[in-house]
Amino acid sequence: MDYDDFAELYDRQYALYRDDLAFYGDLAAHADGPVLEIGAGSGRVTAFMARRGARVTGVEPSARMLERARARLGGDASRVTLVRGDARTVRLDATFALAVIPFNALMHLYTPEDQLAALTNVRAHLRPGGELALDLSLFGTVPTGVLRHADETFHGPRGRTDVTFVQDRDDARQTLVTRYFVDTTHGDGHVTREHHTLTQRWFTRWELEWLLRHAGFAPPRVHGGFRGEPLMEGSETMVIRTLAV
Ligand SMILES: C[S@@+](CC[C@H](N)C(=O)[O-])C[C@H]1O[C@@H](n2cnc3c(N)ncnc32)[C@H](O)[C@@H]1O
Repeated sequence: MDYDDFAELYDRQYALYRDDLAFYGDLAAHADGPVLEIGAGSGRVTAFMARRGARVTGVEPSARMLERARARLGGDASRVTLVRGDARTVRLDATFALAVIPFNALMHLYTPEDQLAALTNVRAHLRPGGELALDLSLFGTVPTGVLRHADETFHGPRGRTDVTFVQDRDDARQTLVTRYFVDTTHGDGHVTREHHTLTQRWFTRWELEWLLRHAGFAPPRVHGGFRGEPLMEGSETMVIRTLAV
């Protein structure tokens, strides 16, 4: 999955998403050293952590997302290093007190080998006792096979754009495939459509616990939200914190 095609739509969709910012911002502000962010995307969380005074290295494979991150940083840019790279293979000449993997960035690793390679590599960049925090959507309550329009209408120079989407959850493959239909009504009334498909590989609690242990982390604390809520059947997000051992 390459976010290059998807960067502008991503930023429009999540411009108002803030559920995770206080959580990652507090962790970063209290970290005893620099912060590594994996899947930094267009800098949504990166900028917030830097504004809280953290020194952040953000790793992101999509050039287009990185471009948008650079544009977002503004005055906080001096505390941020952005690196084009992949969680599995990036090699940084530094170790970190805290690593974060916000908002489903792990879901673009589709095999156990890739997942383990990424987490082992993150572990290798943490100081002993350093912390890892990440969050993953659970998708248990996502309506599947239904065309939805989640109040996503944008007005721009090309006209009015409406985003609709269909999501299909495949429990055998542990994937959620989202097909987006991005329809723009131009000034003269004609309509054009763009298609985007996003495939996410979701995680169960126990497979993630095993992966983390294999990658060199302590048994994690697992919550059902960013305020330490218990993980329950209807939880929408799984929030994990663990330490490098
Ligand atoms: C849902 S976005 C989250 C972006 C950002 N963390 C945020 O919260 O807005 C997932 C991000 O993970 C990145 N990603 C995908 N595969 C990756 C990989 N193998 N290593 C690092 N990042 C990856 C994508 O390019 C994308 O920017």
